[in-house]
Amino acid sequence: MLSVQGLESGYGRARVLFGISLSVEPGELVCVMGRNGVGKTTLLDTVMGVLPATAGMVAFAGEDVTRLPSHRRVALGMAYVPQGHATFPQLSVLGNLLVTLEACRGPREALEEALETFPRLKPLLKRSAGFLSGGQQQQLAIARALVTRPRLLILDEPTEGIQPSIVIEIEEAIERLHASGMAVLLVEQYLELALRLADRFLILDAGHVVHSGTAADLRQEETRRLLAV
Ligand SMILES: Nc1ncnc2c1ncn2[C@@H]1O[C@H](COP(=O)(O)OP(=O)(O)O)[C@@H](O)[C@H]1O
Ligand SMILES: [Mg+2]
Repeated sequence: MLSVQGLESGYGRARVLFGISLSVEPGELVCVMGRNGVGKTTLLDTVMGVLPATAGMVAFAGEDVTRLPSHRRVALGMAYVPQGHATFPQLSVLGNLLVTLEACRGPREALEEALETFPRLKPLLKRSAGFLSGGQQQQLAIARALVTRPRLLILDEPTEGIQPSIVIEIEEAIERLHASGMAVLLVEQYLELALRLADRFLILDAGHVVHSGTAADLRQEETRRLLAV
């Protein structure tokens, strides 16, 4: 579904990613882990075309998307929930969902489906997104991504700084989406959650993949050492 080969990118002259390769098969959940500042967000931004790749390739569903703008990648079935739950604070919850629906020219049912994933948002449709709790905003941000009916959902630390009760709801939602056959590329620092959800994982350090394997490998000491702060 997603194939990344020898990907490099950075900011100005500062190179951050050094030849990252990874794949996500259809229906697979792959978790990217690593300490703060190792390049996880830079990787997702480059996969999504928010940042240009300076070398390497990103292919989605057999198509080379390396030079495509983000919105074309969305149209092909990639959806991205950036770090820090990006929503439009002045718009209502419904307004946030409608903006995305109109941008992707999707059917109204796609909006209903997205709300089924997060029923907690239903009574809040008229509320300004800026007045939601952090956890509710994160749910809205994921719901917005789902409105595009993606085949691959890319999530950057969806549980960061969120109250535990909502972390559980978000984890369950990701699990259901995965179970329904959606491919997921997840950046997650919370090891226990990654262990429960991931089919496979990668660990980044200083812009390189330093370890990868199955969820069972993730339990090992060596892996924990690489993730220790
Ligand atoms: N907008 C930016 N401009 C310059 N440097 C950046 C920018 N964003 C991130 N960086 C740097 O790139 C490196 C990787 O950051 P990031 O991808 O955000 O790491 P992570 O998501 O793993 O915490 C860090 O050294 C960070 O300081
Ligand atoms: Mg980050």
